[in-house]
Amino acid sequence: MAEPRSNELMEKIVSLCKRRGFIYQSSEIYGGINGFWDYGPLGAELKRNVKDLWWRHIVHHRDDVAGLEATIIMSPRIWEASGHVDTFSDPMIDCKTCKGRFRADQANEIPCPQKPSKMVSECHGEKTEPRAFNLMFTTHVGPVQDDSSVAYLRPETAQAIFAQFKNVLETSRQKVPFGIAQVGKAFRNEVTPRNYTFRSREFEQMELEYFIKPDEVVEAIQGRVAPAGDGHPGEPQSDWGWQRWHKYWVEERIRFYESIGLPRTTLEEYWQTPEELAHYARATVDILFQFPFGTQELEGIAARSDFDLSQHARCSGKPMAVFDEELRTAWKDLEEPRRQALWQRYHDARYGYLTRSGVDPEAAAAMAKDDADGLAKGNYVPHVIEPSAGVDRLILALIANAFSEVSETDAKGKTETRVIMRFHPRVAPIKVGVLPLLRNKPELVQKAKAVRDLLRPHLTVFYDDGGSIGRRYARQDEAGTPFCVTVDFETLGEKGPELADTVTVRERDTAAQTRVPIAELAAMLIAKTR
Ligand code: GAP
Repeated sequence: MAEPRSNELMEKIVSLCKRRGFIYQSSEIYGGINGFWDYGPLGAELKRNVKDLWWRHIVHHRDDVAGLEATIIMSPRIWEASGHVDTFSDPMIDCKTCKGRFRADQANEIPCPQKPSKMVSECHGEKTEPRAFNLMFTTHVGPVQDDSSVAYLRPETAQAIFAQFKNVLETSRQKVPFGIAQVGKAFRNEVTPRNYTFRSREFEQMELEYFIKPDEVVEAIQGRVAPAGDGHPGEPQSDWGWQRWHKYWVEERIRFYESIGLPRTTLEEYWQTPEELAHYARATVDILFQFPFGTQELEGIAARSDFDLSQHARCSGKPMAVFDEELRTAWKDLEEPRRQALWQRYHDARYGYLTRSGVDPEAAAAMAKDDADGLAKGNYVPHVIEPSAGVDRLILALIANAFSEVSETDAKGKTETRVIMRFHPRVAPIKVGVLPLLRNKPELVQKAKAVRDLLRPHLTVFYDDGGSIGRRYARQDEAGTPFCVTVDFETLGEKGPELADTVTVRERDTAAQTRVPIAELAAMLIAKTR
């Protein structure tokens, strides 16, 4: 999809992110490096919260998903098997006049050298024909730098999951259907990084590979395959085929985005057309977000058939099929016509995969027959549903969604516009600001520090005693802090015993203030930010 021009809102967001320490240009003191970004104090907290929430939602809150943390550099054979060495490329053209190199579909727009978030037109010099440009970063492992030592920085976290599938299966006591999740860095030498952090060269992914039974196996065991259906299909059932699992994960992922503050109205589902689908994919849904520069992909959810495990089985020589006692028993009890029909469907799918992968038709027919015969013994290669999200794109979406401006006129008639970052409390970098009303009153300071220390074990707290209370509220609003706790003379009991040991809790979005006993503070704030 074409990526439209950046706009004024984007300029404001970029400026706020730098000014408040969400995002900085990498290596800025040396003029920056295109496509690389650093997260400052607030950005680092935001990112950590997002990754923790994803992990909790996908791994900790479920019985059927296990985690993995693999290395960034892996055997280069993984990338040969996955197809990345041969096909992970963008068409690229060179300009003979300005010597620039551009993605063929983006040659009319490049990032402005002075202001990379702005797009400018490229020169009209003569261009070369498009050539494939592999997006993987290469390096060398060990002291000798020749072809035999070439390795790649992983362009996605997913392949390590496939490569470790058997180990996780054997050590986690999981059974298909189950998933393996991973969060980590990925690297792509994008021809034209653009739209701030949206398309970077170093970024993070949160990926789940959810392994399911092929439809033929579901039908053999359950006697039917449930149709895809509409909306969220509810709790997983044993008669679900790939279509319903795919629908389930699309809905689960949208619910996750809603739970961290991206309303459904800001999201769109884009179902890839048959022409857009990778040859092995049965369906792919992109979840799009309305970024200030256009509606763009946040996450892709692909039904990838058994392609990945099959590739690694073929290229490594290590079997990736699983054994399923239920299938072995059910297969024996099937009536002959249905057994034949399921055998044939499974055979044809395997034959299709093998011939598309370059196996010659005769060998492919023999291998597909072996695979289909395996059903009777309870063996099959699992299929996979892959929800794959970019951390940095999600951070950018959360920042864009939270950004709001308010104009306020003071007693002297002076109007000021200020920013409020309306983050959902779950993702907000700082949960609570703790503010003594005055910094030069030791009793107030002492009490405020006691409140800070009370909250700190449970919540991210920022203690601030500098400037007027209004200024401090405004600073926390700009950081997106959902609650501020003010310790004042009432807290000290100077305005009557009934208010002693109570504080003012101010809410960022409404500016409403309520009086809360210190003894109830931690429980109340924990409940409001989880
Ligand atoms: N394993 C599947 C996979 O990697 P992808 O659509 O290429 O699929 C998944 O990437 C997600 O990773 C995207 O939806 C996006 O959020 C993020 N992503 C991909 N390339 C990126 C880039 N250059 N910069 C930032 N995020 C990127």
